Amino acid sequence: MKAIEIRNKYLNFFKAHGHTIIPSAPLIPENDPSVLFTTAGMQPLVPYLLGESHPAGKRLTDYQKCVRTNDIDEVGDNRHLTYFEMLGNWSLGDYFKEESIQMSFDFLTKELGIPVEKLSVTVFAGDKDCPKDEVAASCWKKAGIQDGHIYYYGKEDNWWIAGETGPCGPDTEMFYDTGKPACSPNCQPSCDCGKYVEIWNNVFMEYYKDETGYTKLKQQNVDTGLGLERMTMLLQGKETPFDTELFKPVMDKLAELQKVDKIESRRIIAEHLRSSMMIIADGGRPSNLDRGYVLRRLIRRMIRHMNKLQIDLNELSTIIDLNVDNLKELYPELDQNRVTIQSVLIEEKDKFVKTLANGEKEFNKEVTKLKQQGKNSIDGKMVFRLYDTYGFPPEVTKDLAEESGMEISMEEFDRLFKEHQEKSRAGATQKFKGGLASTGEIETKYHTATHLLNAALKQVLGAHVHQRGSNITIDRMRFDFSHPSKMTDEEKKQTEDLVNKWIQEAIPVEKLEMKKEDAIAQGAEAMFIEKYGDMVTVYKIGDISLELCGGPHVSNTKELGHFKIKKEEASSSGVRRIKAILE
Ligand code: ALA
Repeated sequence: MKAIEIRNKYLNFFKAHGHTIIPSAPLIPENDPSVLFTTAGMQPLVPYLLGESHPAGKRLTDYQKCVRTNDIDEVGDNRHLTYFEMLGNWSLGDYFKEESIQMSFDFLTKELGIPVEKLSVTVFAGDKDCPKDEVAASCWKKAGIQDGHIYYYGKEDNWWIAGETGPCGPDTEMFYDTGKPACSPNCQPSCDCGKYVEIWNNVFMEYYKDETGYTKLKQQNVDTGLGLERMTMLLQGKETPFDTELFKPVMDKLAELQKVDKIESRRIIAEHLRSSMMIIADGGRPSNLDRGYVLRRLIRRMIRHMNKLQIDLNELSTIIDLNVDNLKELYPELDQNRVTIQSVLIEEKDKFVKTLANGEKEFNKEVTKLKQQGKNSIDGKMVFRLYDTYGFPPEVTKDLAEESGMEISMEEFDRLFKEHQEKSRAGATQKFKGGLASTGEIETKYHTATHLLNAALKQVLGAHVHQRGSNITIDRMRFDFSHPSKMTDEEKKQTEDLVNKWIQEAIPVEKLEMKKEDAIAQGAEAMFIEKYGDMVTVYKIGDISLELCGGPHVSNTKELGHFKIKKEEASSSGVRRIKAILE
C-alpha cells in the first residue's frame, strides 16, 4: 500500500466514524512563539483540548506536517527523520477509551489488514498521579488483542505531554512485530532491538500539568498520532522509510549521480532535502536565528553530504524538481512553490559553496601539519579560527575531524565563541553610549532585566506568560504579566534564581535589525506588534530571549549585578505585577 492510500484510508475511516477532516496546520506555528516548528498534530489544537469549542466539532481528523529537530544528528541511520507526517484523530470531550481503542483496532486489522497476532499494545501502569489503566487494557482484550500481548509501563513509556507543561495523560501505544527474532527471552515492545516497532499512540488527555503538578481538565480528550512514513515502510515490508516510494526516486537518482557510495549520506541528503522543501513551502527562510538557522543547518548538511558523494552540485536543481514531482501528490504546496524552493535552495547552496571551499582547504592544511607533528587532536582555537576567519561552520569542522580520525574540543570552541561575542558587543556599546543621555545606566540595566524576567517567568510558570506592561525608575522595575494565580514562594525563588543564573553566565545581548514578519516568524516576543513599522529592532539574549524592543540595553547580562523580587501582587484580572530591584 502506498503512503497516499494509507493517508486516504485513514482520513476516510475516521470521517465515516463521524470525524471532520481538517487541513494540516503550517509547519511554522501561527501565533505561537514558544515552539520552532509544529511537532505533533495536537499542537495547533491545544485551545480545544483545554475546552474551547472547535468550529468543526468534537471529532476531528487530519494529517499534520511535523518537524522535530532534536534528532537531527541521528539522521542517516535507518529510521530517524526530521520531517514526518502524523495522521491523527481527536475526541474533544466526546468519545474516550473504549471507542478510541475499538476504532484503532478496526483500522489496523480491517482497513490495513494487519494480522492481529502481529500487534502488541502497552498501557499505563499507574502511579501516584494517575491509576493503572485497567480500562484501556480491558478495551483491548474486548477488541481482540491476545493475552500476553498487553504490557504495562510507567510514565517514561506510557505518558504523553508536549514539553514540560500542558495537556497530557496516560497513553496506549500499538506495536507491530516485524517478525525479527527476539533479542532475548525478555524482549518486549519497550526494547529497541527492532523486533517491535511503535506504530500508533493514543493519548487519553484528561490532565493538565503545571509546575505544581497535575489537575484534571474540564473534559476527557483523545489525541492520537500515527507516523505515515513508518506505517508505509512496515506495510510494504521494507527495512527503512528510504526504501519506500517517499524517498526511493531521490535515493536512486543520488546513487546514479554519486561517485562515492555511502548510504548514510544518501539518506541525509534525501531526508534533509524533503524537510527543507517542506519548511520553505510553508514560508521558512534560512537565516542565523532560530527557525531560520535550523533550515540553514539542514541545507548545509545536505550540501556537505552531496560533496562527500562527489555529486556535482549543479545537479541540485534536477534533484529538487524530481523530489517535487515525487511528492506533489501528497503535498501540492511543493508544486505551487516550486520556483521559490528552487531559488531559496540554490542561493543558499551558492553561499555555502564559497564558505566551504575556503574553510576546507584551510582545515586540510592544518590537519596535515598536525599529523606530521604526530598530534591527533584539534583544539577549540583552530575550530574558532576557521569559523572566525572563513565562516566555516563548527559542526562541519567536527564532521571533518571525525572523518579524518582526529579528536576535537568543542567545549573550548564554545567558550571562545562566547568571549568573541562579548568583545564585539562591548565595541558596539561604546558607540551606543553617546545616545544614552536621557536613559541612564541604571535604567538601561533594568530594561535588560525586564527581558530576562519575562523569559524566566515563561520557564517557571509556562508559555502563557506574556508582558502586559512595565515601568522603570532608577530605584526599581515593575513588570506586569499574564498569569491566573498568585505565585508561590517557590516559584518566586525559582524565577529569581534563573535570572541570577543568566546574569552570572555573562550572556551577550545582541541588537538585530530585521523585517517585522521575520521577527514574528522567528518567534520574537512583542507586546503591541501592530505598533511597529516594517523594520524592527530585536534584542536577543543567547537562547533565552528574543524581543522586539527599541532598547537601550546593556551589552552583557553580567553587568546587571544581583536581581531580587521585592513584591508579587495582583494587577488586574488575570494579570500579576512584580516589583524587583537590581542590587
Ligand atoms: N500527541 C501524540 C504524539 O505525538 C499522539 O505521539
